[in-house]
Parts: sequence; structure tokens; C-alpha cells
Amino acid sequence: MTTLAICNHKGGTGKTTTVVHTAAALGLSGYRTLVIDLDPQGFLTRYLGIEEPPIEASSLMLFDHQVKLRDVPVQRLKHFDVLPASASMTKVLRKLNRPTDVFWAKEALQTGPDYDLVVFDTAAAVTAYSLNALVASRYALIPVTPEYQPVYGAEQTYQTIRQVREKLNPDLQAPFFLFTQVDGRKRSHHQFRRYLRARYGDLVMRSIIRTSTALSQAYDDGTTAFEHAPTSRGVRDYANATDELLRHVQAGTPRTAPEITAVEPPAYEEAPGEEPPRPVAPERPAWL
Ligand SMILES: Nc1ncnc2c1ncn2[C@@H]1O[C@H](COP(=O)(O)OP(=O)(O)O)[C@@H](O)[C@H]1O
Ligand SMILES: [Mg+2]
Repeated sequence: MTTLAICNHKGGTGKTTTVVHTAAALGLSGYRTLVIDLDPQGFLTRYLGIEEPPIEASSLMLFDHQVKLRDVPVQRLKHFDVLPASASMTKVLRKLNRPTDVFWAKEALQTGPDYDLVVFDTAAAVTAYSLNALVASRYALIPVTPEYQPVYGAEQTYQTIRQVREKLNPDLQAPFFLFTQVDGRKRSHHQFRRYLRARYGDLVMRSIIRTSTALSQAYDDGTTAFEHAPTSRGVRDYANATDELLRHVQAGTPRTAPEITAVEPPAYEEAPGEEPPRPVAPERPAWL
């Protein structure tokens, strides 16, 4: 079973869109795929038109050690299964404050049905939920819109992933960066793409996701752009990105993160009103 966490500490960078459309592409290629919604706001769950589930049929079951995941009912969609978010997640989060509370999802997956891939959607924050996703995963993917705040968030996320790898999950591979909502006409987008590639090299995926109205529509009935707009560029982009991701995963080479410590100011073209991103040391999460 391959496990993948989708994260970026900044919101609106295409995490949920990436989870849904990567899962659809994987399902269409014949991979048995489970999506786990670990964002307390449950946007993925709602995007797919899944009604508020009872706690017993939600991702909160990962955090109940008396429950075996194989006994938890999942939502079966056309191309993948979903363990939806529960509205009680925010309340439960307050109780997840022991250092060991980051291992629940990893342990729960060992009691689950056998999927080829498990993909976690996470919120734009370092919480026990997003840490659970990273501790349970071998791979991480950072969707990043080539703009100042998402790139800043992506670099913070990269540092968090390094800390998780060092302290909590030595199996966690260096993350992939996937550019999303790319507008080829914007010069600043080219600049931020060059910036990230200069710093992170091959960790930046070759495939990019361009802006596509087919992706921004929610179809509300558990379907995705793959069913409604199969020839749209959004669908083609996610199909290509998923292929690239699978090639990396199947190659199986351990991915090690470059040491990003000193700041190499990138060669920047003038872009009025836009500051080049500066890497930051993220605040140390209480769990680490
Ligand atoms: N490639 C894209 N083209 C057009 N709209 C997009 C694209 N990716 C995401 N969006 C839209 O941008 C918004 C934020 O995306 P979302 O996936 O919810 O981000 P996150 O989960 O990181 O907060 C949503 O309204 C979504 O429909
Ligand atoms: Mg989201």
C-alpha cells in the first residue's frame, strides 16, 4: 500500500482539487484508491457532495483505537473510495494533544482493507491531523500556485516535512512540488516557478496544472471533471501529473531532500509589487 499526504500550510493552493483528481486518475488506471479527508472543514467531502457522515463512518474513526478500519464503512464513488470528514473533528482536535497522538492514522491503516493507494487531504495548518497524515505517509505532495503566499507556504511545509522525517517518520520521502492554477500569461508565475526549481531541483514536478474551469466546478454527486470534461486541460494535466507521480513512486528510489538552509537569492526579473519569497523557519509545532 502506497500512502500519500497532500499538504501546503497555505490555503487555496489546490490541495483538495489535487486529491480528488489524482484519486480519479488513479482509479481510472485501475488502482484501488482510498481518499481520507483530514481537513476539519471537510471541503473535499462537500466538494464530492457527500453528506455529513455519522462519526462512525468518518475519518475520525482513525483516532478510535477500538475500531478496526476494515470495519468502517467508506463512501464508494465511481473511481475511488472516500473516508469523509466529520463536523466533530474540530472538537476532537482539542483532545489530540499528547505526543503519541500523531501515530493514530499510521496504526489505523494497519487494520484497514488493502488499498493500492491511500491519499490524505489536509488543512492549511500544522495540526495533529496534518501531522497524522505525514506520519502515516511515505510520500508527500505540495500543491503550490506560483505566487508569493503559496510559495512561502510550500517552503514552510517543506521544512515541516523534514522535521517529521527526522523526528517521527524516517520512511517519509522528500516531497514533490506540483504547480497548480498556473497561468502561462503571468510573468510572475514564470518567476516563481523558476525560483522553486532553482532551490528544489527535481523535487519540482515537470507536469503542471493549469487553470481550468472544469476543475473549479463541483459536480456534487461524487463525480469529478474526469467524467464531465474528460478532454479539458485540467483533466489532461492531472492525468499527466498522476502518471509522473506513479513513475517516481514505482521507480522506488528513496528521495532525499536537499539541505535548504542558506538563502540563495534567485535571479529575479523586476515584477512590480511582488517580493521574491524568502524561506522561513516555521514555528516549531508542539508535537515535535
Ligand atoms: N487548476 C485549477 N483551475 C481553476 N481553479 C482551480 C484549480 N485548482 C483549484 N482551483 C480552485 O481554487 C480554489 C482552491 O482550491 P482547493 O483545491 O480547494 O485548495 P486547497 O484545498 O489548497 O485550499 C477552489 O475554488 C478550486 O476550485
Ligand atoms: Mg482543501
